[in-house]
Amino acid sequence: MLSFEFSEIQLQIKDAARKFAQEEILPTTIQRDMNSEFPSEILKKMGELGFLGMMVSSEWGGSELDVVSYVLAIEEFAKVDASVAVVASVQNSLVCWILETYGSDFLKENYLRPLAEGKYLGAYCLSEPEAGSDARQQNTIAEKDGNDWILNGTKNWITTGKHSNVSIVFAQTNKELKHKGIACFAVPNDTPGFEAGIKEDKMGLRSSETTSIGLTNVKVSEEHLIGNVGEGFYIAMRGLNGGRIGIAAQSVGIAQGAFEAAVKYSLERKTMGKPIAEHQLIQAKLAQMSMKISAARLLTHKAAWLRDNKLDHIRESSEAKLFASTIANEVTREAVQIHGGYGYVREYQVERMMRDAKVTEIYEGTSEIQNLVIAREILKSV
Ligand code: CAA
Repeated sequence: MLSFEFSEIQLQIKDAARKFAQEEILPTTIQRDMNSEFPSEILKKMGELGFLGMMVSSEWGGSELDVVSYVLAIEEFAKVDASVAVVASVQNSLVCWILETYGSDFLKENYLRPLAEGKYLGAYCLSEPEAGSDARQQNTIAEKDGNDWILNGTKNWITTGKHSNVSIVFAQTNKELKHKGIACFAVPNDTPGFEAGIKEDKMGLRSSETTSIGLTNVKVSEEHLIGNVGEGFYIAMRGLNGGRIGIAAQSVGIAQGAFEAAVKYSLERKTMGKPIAEHQLIQAKLAQMSMKISAARLLTHKAAWLRDNKLDHIRESSEAKLFASTIANEVTREAVQIHGGYGYVREYQVERMMRDAKVTEIYEGTSEIQNLVIAREILKSV
């Protein structure tokens, strides 16, 4: 059964993440958003504290924590800066998880260890110009050449595309086999022919970096294959089952940050002779925001707990992601509304949170895809 009591360690991780977020991330959040500045220094410090290899075993340099601890930390980071949170989420739940679960000792020593120790950043390269929601339609090709693989194609919307050191790349080895022909590779970003495109000029998450990746005759040795040929699509999907829990936690964090700002402002701002928090229409907004965040957080913790306990969680992970991303958008919009004109300017942060929230309904599977996944899981179990 899902326990509502956190362990001592889980609470310590939450506190450590909150302290780090307040002291190290928050002071530069507005400036990095304005200048689209990648948080290199912050990530270096996060790596040194073990926040970039949270669930990796200590054998491979990680912090060996559970998924619940991880979502508690991601929420704290996202509360002050969703851009930093997404880099940590992709690194922990997609890149590190895939390498630890499917990688050989060679891959773990050369890539997982430096990732877990925070010396490397990683990227997850599944989407393509013609393969977003329809992730099976991989046009990136991997051809065998003796003991090497040659990769050609284009990847899109890659978080940390340029600043990462190693990328998890999915590619088709035999079109006739459809998704059963897809393979997964670890590709060092300094491999000749691997080129990150220019940074996308995004509406939100401006301090995180999103690029395309061009792969032109990129040669990697057989040892860089992760899992077996034909297993790639399943690795991508099982990774996303965890990744979506990370995005749910990020969404809860964004909503919580906006909610706390709205409560604070509503106590300070006076209209008609009293703080706006004393007006019932504002109270109703605060009540709705609080309720939605609590529900989203519980769904997120439930999905994390199921994953920790190796129980089925495809449906729960999508439910958490779908609900949390929906309410992150609702709550941030209401936070801007409560702030009135001040909500529309940078200084009060809630306009950034509203911009940052939007993408949670798009990446790691759109809300439409989450609905589809949930419905399929319901019908499968009947
Ligand atoms: N977990 C485990 N296995 C899964 C799975 C899951 N969540 N989803 C599908 N599979 C398995 C199926 O069981 C099926 O297995 P069999 O071959 O044994 O039958 C196989 O994969 C194919 O699945 P489907 O038949 O369901 O394939 P489909 O094409 O009809 O639907 C999809 C698949 C659910 C639409 C999938 O393509 C999908 O999730 N699309 C969204 C992709 C996505 O989330 N992209 C995000 C990219 S990362 C990102 O956003 C960038 C970033 O850096 C943050």
